[in-house]
Amino acid sequence: MATSSKVTAKSIRKVILTGGSSGLGLALAEPLLRRGDHVTLVARDPVKLAEAVHHLMGKVPGAKIDVLSLDVSGAEVEAGLATAVARMGGLDLLINSAGILREGYFEKLTEQDYRQTFDINYFGTLRTIRAALPFLKQSGRGQIVNIASMAALTGVFGYTAYCSSKYALLGFSDALRAEMKPQGIKVQVVCPPEFDSPMVDALDQTRTPENQAHTLAIPKLGVSTVVDAIMAGLDKSPFLIVPGAQTRLMAFGIRCFPGFSRWVADHRIQAAYRGPH
Ligand SMILES: NC(=O)c1ccc[n+]([C@@H]2O[C@H](COP(=O)([O-])OP(=O)(O)OC[C@H]3O[C@@H](n4cnc5c(N)ncnc54)[C@H](OP(=O)(O)O)[C@@H]3O)[C@@H](O)[C@H]2O)c1
Repeated sequence: MATSSKVTAKSIRKVILTGGSSGLGLALAEPLLRRGDHVTLVARDPVKLAEAVHHLMGKVPGAKIDVLSLDVSGAEVEAGLATAVARMGGLDLLINSAGILREGYFEKLTEQDYRQTFDINYFGTLRTIRAALPFLKQSGRGQIVNIASMAALTGVFGYTAYCSSKYALLGFSDALRAEMKPQGIKVQVVCPPEFDSPMVDALDQTRTPENQAHTLAIPKLGVSTVVDAIMAGLDKSPFLIVPGAQTRLMAFGIRCFPGFSRWVADHRIQAAYRGPH
């Protein structure tokens, strides 16, 4: 197996990575496998999972990869995870990257859009953690990383469904961190800005001009910048991982000068405004 000389049997982690067939999840799998971790990729579409394995085996020959075709918002999560953990012989790290995005004017989004977004982004993550927790406790070095978004730190035009799910995920993760720390389980949350991925390619086909104007205030990152920030954060102790120097500056501005941040955003949105009608 292609692993770094620093990797020892003890440092090799058993990892479940939801959303592992695409975008950030797929990109994160590569450095984990390179360091010798055993990774189970979780997503719904078995064809995309098979393609992901093919891609990763080409990059990291001999890598230890399993797949689990599973809907994180479905009833099979507990049984599916138990099977995946049994196959790996344990679980040390759970990364929740599975997520969806519904962008649009509030007047155009349906209640179903909100329910589906919450079912996957919030309850899907919660359900996966609940199913993984007994195994993470047995690990002795259990770790949970939830992929939220910059849209968990500030309201974004067109993201009433997405922002609310990611704000909820951030609050959940923060409270969970406090509960898990005494049990020796580390909880972290990642708030990336927009980065290149199939999710954003799809969004670009339909997004409102106001969303475009608002989100372009923060430069789009390459997925490798997000991956590098997460990999660096995994072995450190920050709860909140914000990839990209400019994003961190923006996050600081949003926290310290919220009125000014909204004023700047409102001007950008006004200039692009078309509205729902
Ligand atoms: N891209 C961005 O700019 C950006 C910015 C900030 C945060 N994020 C967050 O980063 C995470 C990854 O985004 P991405 O851009 O990499 O998206 P992506 O390329 O669309 O990948 C999403 C992954 O999640 C899986 N997935 C979706 N729904 C699922 C479900 N119900 N059960 C199991 N797996 C499911 C998808 O596979 P299947 O469809 O086959 O299930 C796919 O593997 C998401 O949580 C997203 O909200 C993205």
